[in-house]
Order: sequence, then structure tokens, then C-alpha cells
Amino acid sequence: NHDLVVLGIETSCDDTAAAVVRGNGEILSQVVSSQADLLARYGGVAPKMAEEAHIKAIDQVVQEALDRANLTAKNLSAVAVTIGPGLSLCLRVGVQKAHKLAGSFNLPIVGVHHMEAHTLVARLTERELQFPFMALLISGGHNLLILARDLGQYIQLGTSIDDAIGEAYDKTAKWLGLDLRRSGGPAIEELAREGDAASVKFSTPMQHHKDCNFSYAGLKTQVRLAIQSRNINAETPISSANSQDRVARADIAASFQRVAVLHLEERCERAIEWARRIEPSIEHLVVSGGVASNKYVRARLDTVVKKKNIQLVCPPPSLCTDNGVMVAWAGIEHFRVGRFDPPPPAELPVDFM
Ligand code: KG4
Ligand code: ZN
Repeated sequence: NHDLVVLGIETSCDDTAAAVVRGNGEILSQVVSSQADLLARYGGVAPKMAEEAHIKAIDQVVQEALDRANLTAKNLSAVAVTIGPGLSLCLRVGVQKAHKLAGSFNLPIVGVHHMEAHTLVARLTERELQFPFMALLISGGHNLLILARDLGQYIQLGTSIDDAIGEAYDKTAKWLGLDLRRSGGPAIEELAREGDAASVKFSTPMQHHKDCNFSYAGLKTQVRLAIQSRNINAETPISSANSQDRVARADIAASFQRVAVLHLEERCERAIEWARRIEPSIEHLVVSGGVASNKYVRARLDTVVKKKNIQLVCPPPSLCTDNGVMVAWAGIEHFRVGRFDPPPPAELPVDFM
């Protein structure tokens, strides 16, 4: 077990990431190549463009992960790669790289589910974390509440019926004219600290649905209307806004964040009650995915779990946003119990046809 060394490859969205992790949880290397600059120029992820960026970055990212770990591919026990969910054009780049490497070096392959990787990485950072536990996964594309009963056994307690919270952060940032060279979430988190969270009255989503599902499309619309009615122009970057305009933007950022997170709080509280009926011994709520790197989110959820007498487990920010470590670790967990594919055939020579 402790001799396992697994390479993890992640290309499901806009980051090309790779990492090498040991069976005992030791992170030997971690490399992320971000497309944030590209995204800022085009205002979102365009699959074809993201695919090209992955193709350009993948060989070097993987090589660097191996180099920094002081290893060559032949020292690996297996290659783990994200196989979904995500943009298929992008996923394919990682999967092809994994197959090429595994084929050349006769290595088994572990196909990894992106959301499971976000969940399981908490067992790397918190070595005491045992099943069953709950997880709130909050990112740009997903908003999930799950009960993890065992490895591979997950009950979905709630999901978004439309947008995920990260998407709402990203759009709000764009409409407020924030600097998108990094993603919208951190920009809103920072601006919100200057604002008054009680100044704009947004209504909390799904008050009449007493379940654990989420909805962020309506809140997005409320934010867009509030921005329009205050004549805030996204074309004017916040750096050139006058002080009154800046205050107005900060107030919207803070008010949006308060309600967006209040929605998480309410759903988590209910989900803990639901989960206890199935697994009365639940002791932990894992919060992971890009939005889990937000300090306000962590602090608010911490009060919820305290009230319910359970513990919050939040991986460090670099392991909450998309990364190769979580893929390598999920690969290790599955490899250990025999869930992997045998080495693919070595690559055929280029002139085979
Ligand atoms: O997990 P992730 O890296 O990629 C997906 O699988 O989607 O999550 C990216 C999302 C983006 O929407 C980004 O704006 C959000 O996570 N995010 C944040 C913060 N850092 C990243 N949202 C709020 N506050 C943050 N500090
Ligand atoms: Zn993710």
C-alpha cells in the first residue's frame, strides 16, 4: 500500500493538471496550468479553445509532475485520469495522454469520476475521515449534496435544478466588471469584504421546496436586475469606477454572497437531518470543489455543522479547485480495492496504417 505511486491527470474543464501521490497520502508533486488568461479574453470556457490549450500543455504538465517527484513513468504503479463529467473534447486530451503513457510503460489505468475525486481528496487531507460521511460539492458546474456510505457507494441527497453556485459567482463577477484573469469567485469574495451584505434584498432560493436541491438561476437574475437598476456598467472595470460606483458594486457582491451561501446553509442543515435517518453515526461534512476555497463559505458552514454537532472537513484551497492530486488519490483508493483497467496495448507505430 505504502509503495503505491500514482500519477493523476485532470483535464475536465479549463485547467490542465497532473500530480504524483503515494499510497500513504504523501504528495510528491502537483502541477496546474491554468487557462485563466484565455478565459478572461473570451469571457467563458469555449470547448474547442480549451481543448487546444490542453493539447498544448499536457505533455509538459505531466513531465513536470514526474520530474518534480523525481520519478520516471516506469516507477509508477498506475495512471489515474478523470473520465468525466466534463467537456468531452477536454477529457479526451487527458485520457489519450494516460493511455499513451500506460501503454508505453505497461501500467494499469484507473478511470476517475471528477466529483468523486473532489470528495475523496478529503480522506487524503484528513487521514482519520472514515465512511460514512456527507459531502457538499460546490464548483462551477456542480452543486451536490451526497451521503458517502462507502467507497463507490454514494446517495445523492440534493443537486442543482439549474445553475451551480460557482456559475453564479462567475456571472456576478463578470457583470460587476471584476478582473477575470483569475476566476470570478475569488474576486467576488474579496470585493464583498468592502460591502454591506444587508444593503440589497435578494430573496433566498427555493424557500417553498423543503428538500435538499439547489437553484441559482433565479438569484443570478435578481443580481442582473439589481446591477441594471443601479446603472453599473460591466464595461467599466472596477479599477476605473468612482468611489460611489465602487461601493454600489461591493454592496451587490456582499449581498449576493450572503444569500448564495445562506442557500447552502439551509440545504446542508436539512441534509444532515436526512442523512442521519440513513446513517445515524454521521460525524463529518466534507466541503470541496472550487467554491469551498471561499473563507466566508467555510465560516458559515462551520456554524451549521456546530449546531448539528458534526465536524467540517475542508481540504486546503489548492486541493478544492480542480487539481491532479485529487485524481491521483481517488485512483489510489480504487486501485487498492482492485478497481482498475489493465494496461492498454502499447501505441502502434505512427506508420502502422
Ligand atoms: O472545482 P472547480 O475548480 O472547477 C469545476 O469543476 O467547476 O471550481 C471552479 C469554480 C468557479 O466557478 C470559481 O469561480 C469558483 O469555483 N471559485 C470560487 C472561489 N474560488 C473558486 N468561488 C467563490 N469563492 C472563491 N474563493
Ligand atoms: Zn471540479
